[in-house]
This record gives sequence, structure tokens and C-alpha cells, in this order.
Amino acid sequence: MNIVYLNGSFMPKEEATISVMDRGFLLADGIYEVIPVYSGKLFRLKEHLNRLQRSLDAIRLPSPFTQKEWQTILCELVDKNGGGNQAIYLQVTRGVENIRDHSFPDQVKPTIFVMSNPIAKPTDEDLNHTLDNTPGISTITTKDIRWDRCDIKSISLLPNILLRQQALDAGAQEALLIKDGYLTEGAASNCFVIKDGVIFTPPKNELILGGITRDLVIELARENQIDCKEEPINEAALNNADEIWISSSTKEIVPVVQLNNKAVGQGVVGPLWRKMAELYIQYKLSLFETG
Ligand code: PDD
Repeated sequence: MNIVYLNGSFMPKEEATISVMDRGFLLADGIYEVIPVYSGKLFRLKEHLNRLQRSLDAIRLPSPFTQKEWQTILCELVDKNGGGNQAIYLQVTRGVENIRDHSFPDQVKPTIFVMSNPIAKPTDEDLNHTLDNTPGISTITTKDIRWDRCDIKSISLLPNILLRQQALDAGAQEALLIKDGYLTEGAASNCFVIKDGVIFTPPKNELILGGITRDLVIELARENQIDCKEEPINEAALNNADEIWISSSTKEIVPVVQLNNKAVGQGVVGPLWRKMAELYIQYKLSLFETG
């Protein structure tokens, strides 16, 4: 699992190098995507490529490839790395210039890098095994110190890094972020609050990343007649939740059993999480069946 793609070529990761003058390195001037791969197949590829395009548009960087071309590169990388379950990391920066300067360079030749890592997720062959062995995580709430364009999947992640580390230092696994009294999302995840059988999640706007996993959770809920509302969630509602979940492409849907050292609901993995995790796994399996 060590072949990467860099600016038109596939090569072993150890051989991939970029200039110190790359604007990604000097200025964090770039965007990224993370795409899960299950049984060698790219998961929700269209949605991820649409979001990639959205991020590129937002930072005014012309896309170097069409969606079809991206797909060809990604599929080739997955194959070169042996298929199976992987997580693709894709990054595009505004390229290399001779001087460090905030303004856009005249000639933009973006730096394009894609790598793939094994996914730290058990296979779904034994559905009940997966569901019964998810312990649930601890979280803290903390002030959302990020900027006002969190909808862009920017490689500038210093606030997210500090927030995640703050959670780890407190013995938790994720920080749930509060802006002006309202929940936005996790340091690297979206967030769901469950109350009286209804799923609530903050609406998509410039304060959160529109997660692909988040959208799928909403889609699955609605298809299965589970009430799901996209609306603002204040801190009191978060503290009174029956269940809390976080979601991301690499972690999927994770139940939260502790918030600021207090039990969430009964302090154990909740029944609606189990139902949703089951729907999610079934959805994944159905994709493999249909090819
Ligand atoms: N992060 N919000 C933030 C701030 C994130 O960083 C992520 C994912 C999400 C979930 O989005 P999605 O469901 O599309 O993965 C929400 C990725 C996995 C990362 O940075 O590694």
C-alpha cells in the first residue's frame, strides 16, 4: 500500500517529493478530499467529486481534471494498492512559485497529490459482530475557534488539530464545537443529536463541512421513515440528548456515550444508533451486490 500519485505519475510514496516553495507547504493554500474505498470500489464517488469541485471553485482554483479523469486516476491508484478497503486522500494546492507571496500567482499549475491508506475498519462480513463491538466514544464541548468558511475542505487545519488534541488531552476522542451557543460539528466529523426518536443535525451552511457521510445518514433515515431534522442545536439540547453520534468517511457513524465526563442518555450505545449503523452497513453491502 505505498503507491501514490503526484502530478501525472504513479510512484512509491518514498519517491514522491514536492518543492519547499509549494503554496500548500508555505501557505496552506489548497484543498483536500477523503474518499473511502470498500472492496476496491470508491464509495459515494460522485458526491466526493462534487464537493471537490465546490472546494476548488471556492478557492478560485480551476479544476485540473474532469470528473471522469479524476475517476480514472483514483481507480488506478486503488488497483495499484491492491484494492480492498482503503481511504483515498487527495490534495490540490495552488502550486509552486519562486517567491512566497499571498497574492495568486500569474500562472497556476496546481500540485496534485493522491495517496491511499488502509481503512481502520473491520469488514462488515459479520454484521452483528461489528454492531455489538462498538464501544462508543467520549467527547468534550469546546469553543469553535475556526473561520467562517468551514464549508471549504481546506488543508489549513490548525484549529481542527488544536481542538482534536484538546479532546485527547482531556481523555476524550472528539471535540464537539460550540459557536455562539450552538453546536456546529466535531473537530473532524459531523454531529447528530437524537431526542425522542428524532434525529437532529445542524443545517449545512458556511459554519460546517457538508459531510458526505452526514448526507447519507439523512438519506437513509428518510428512506426508512425515521424523522430527521436539519436545524440549529443549542448547547442545552446537546446536553439533554438521548443519543449523540458523529460521522465521517473514515470512521462512519460513531456513537458518543460521554459528553464532558457525563453519560449521554443511559451512557451506553443507543438503539437508534444500532438501527442506523445497520442501515449503513446494508447500504454498503447492497452496492457490492449490484457492482
Ligand atoms: N474529515 N467535518 C469536518 C471538520 C471534517 O474534517 C470531516 C471529515 C467531516 C465529515 O465529512 P465526511 O463525512 O465527508 O468525511 C465533517 C476527514 C475524514 C479528514 O479530515 O480526514
